[in-house]
Amino acid sequence: MIIAVDGPAASGKGTIAKALAHHFGLPHLDTGLLYRAVGLAVLEAGGDPASAEDALQAAHHLSSALDDPGLKSEAAGKAASLVSAHPGVRAALLDRQKRFAEQPGGAVLDGRDIGTVIAPHADAKLFVTASPDVRAQRRCDELIGMGLDVHLAAVLNDIRARDERDSARSAAPLKMADDAALLDTSHLSIKEAIAAAIALAEDRPFTAAND
Ligand code: C5P
Repeated sequence: MIIAVDGPAASGKGTIAKALAHHFGLPHLDTGLLYRAVGLAVLEAGGDPASAEDALQAAHHLSSALDDPGLKSEAAGKAASLVSAHPGVRAALLDRQKRFAEQPGGAVLDGRDIGTVIAPHADAKLFVTASPDVRAQRRCDELIGMGLDVHLAAVLNDIRARDERDSARSAAPLKMADDAALLDTSHLSIKEAIAAAIALAEDRPFTAAND
C-alpha cells in the first residue's frame, strides 16, 4: 500500500505521514529532507540556491544521510524551496523517491508532488492543509520550543513566500491531485488530525475531493 501525503509548509503533513506509517507498519520518507539536503549543501559550499548550476552540482553529489539536524533549520528550508524550483534538481531526486514508493509492501511519502508526480498510482492520497495563520503559529511555537527568538509576523511572511514559490513554480508545483482527499487541520488537534487521516486512508478509494 502506497500512501501519498502532500501539503504546504507547517500543515502537519509530516506528523500525519509519520503516524500513518506507524499505524500501517510502513516505511516513511519525508521528501522535503532531500530538497533541504540539497539546499544546505549549496549553502555550505558557499553557493547560491537560486543558481541552477550550484543546485544541480549539489543534487548530483547528495549524500544518502538525511539525519543532519541542520536540515530542520529555517535557512535549509528556505534554500530547499529555492533549489526545488530547478527542474534538473527535481529530476536528480526522482528515482530515489520512486524507488522508495515502489518498494515491496509499500510506503508512506510526504512532500509536495507525491500524489501528482512521484506516486500518481498511490492507493491513498491525502492533501493536508491549514490556514496560513494557523501554520505560522504552529511553526512559531516549534521554533520558540527550539530556543529561537522569532516573531509571528516574520514567520507568517516566510510561510506566504514559501507557499507562493511552491505553488507558482512550473516544475511540479504544489497542487492537490484530483483524486486526493482534502484534510484541513486548522481546527484539529494533532490527535484529531491523525485519527482523521487514518480514517481517510482506511476508507480508500476516495471519491474525488471536488466532486
Ligand atoms: O516539507 P519541507 O518544508 O521540509 O520542504 C522544504 C521545501 O522543499 C519546500 O518548501 C518545497 O519547496 C520543497 N519540496 C518540494 N517537493 C517535495 C518536498 C519538498 O519541492 N516533494
